[in-house]
Amino acid sequence: MAIVEIRDFEKTYAGGFQALKGVTLDIEEGEILALLGPNGAGKTTLISAVCGLVSPTGGTAKIGGHDVVSDYRAARSLVGLVPQEIALDQFSKVADAVRFTRGLFGLPRDEAHIEDILKKLSLWDKRNERILALSGGMKRRVLIAKALSHSPRVLFLDEPTAGVDVELRRDMWEIVADLKKDGVTIILTTHYIEEAEAIADRIGVINGGALLLVENKDALMARMGKKELQITLREPVTSIPKTLASYALTLSEEGEMITYSFDAQGEATGITALIADLSKAGLKLADLHTKQSSLEEIFVGLVGESAA
Ligand SMILES: Nc1ncnc2c1ncn2[C@@H]1O[C@H](COP(=O)(O)OP(=O)(O)OP(=O)(O)O)[C@@H](O)[C@H]1O
Ligand SMILES: [Mg+2]
Repeated sequence: MAIVEIRDFEKTYAGGFQALKGVTLDIEEGEILALLGPNGAGKTTLISAVCGLVSPTGGTAKIGGHDVVSDYRAARSLVGLVPQEIALDQFSKVADAVRFTRGLFGLPRDEAHIEDILKKLSLWDKRNERILALSGGMKRRVLIAKALSHSPRVLFLDEPTAGVDVELRRDMWEIVADLKKDGVTIILTTHYIEEAEAIADRIGVINGGALLLVENKDALMARMGKKELQITLREPVTSIPKTLASYALTLSEEGEMITYSFDAQGEATGITALIADLSKAGLKLADLHTKQSSLEEIFVGLVGESAA
């Protein structure tokens, strides 16, 4: 059973704006899922509704089998949420803030656990500092420490690395990898495609309140590995010569361009043989160029299509 089960989830805000249009998604225990999407796509709405901060207007979501609306307390006890906006009690001390959050979940004090979290997040030295004295990146770590205070099985990170420097971003990736080792399931949103590439097991793309794709990262990367060679002919042809049938070729509508798809990660591209065979078939080339589709292009293409 998936640890998070989201079915036909919808949210229409009070003003009538539909921010989620029927999202269905299963998240397996122990995986890291990255949600990519442009501003306003519905990422924060989705996370907030699953965590019970926003009430859905349709569909259901369950965490560990507990419905997030009818069985709110049980569902909420299993999740930690690091919100997109930094909202902290500036006058509170770091360790107190983490203890306080744990208390809100009705759990007894556990100083060893608090120490463990603070050390993991390199906040131990700052434990007696007031939050207002911390840098923005440190505050983000405090948010994570609070979200981990009750040992959640599922952690939602809403843009954990927005506006942080490269070093802290890498630290954050390490923290996420460590949490995964501890068996925590992680869902994060990001605008950084390289971040999704670096840490996610699966990638989901959301736009206009709809989930456009959820795919294993390696499968997506394999798709990215596809390259195309575009061959412009001097004279257009009406069809691809039969002698070239063994190649993966497509002919443009006007007949002046042949596109050859090949696996860039494969040992041999077949380009040398193809060019020899083209000339044997009597075709004269005017121009050649290769094109690689990146995850970024796949993403931009998907988002563009869905907006049209
Ligand atoms: N409380 C609200 N009332 C009305 N509309 C809202 C509310 N919160 C969000 N929206 C709208 O819902 C849509 C989705 O917003 P959401 O914050 O979920 O997007 P997002 O994907 O998290 O964007 P970003 O990348 O900018 O954080 C937006 O059009 C937003 O204006
Ligand atoms: Mg957001």
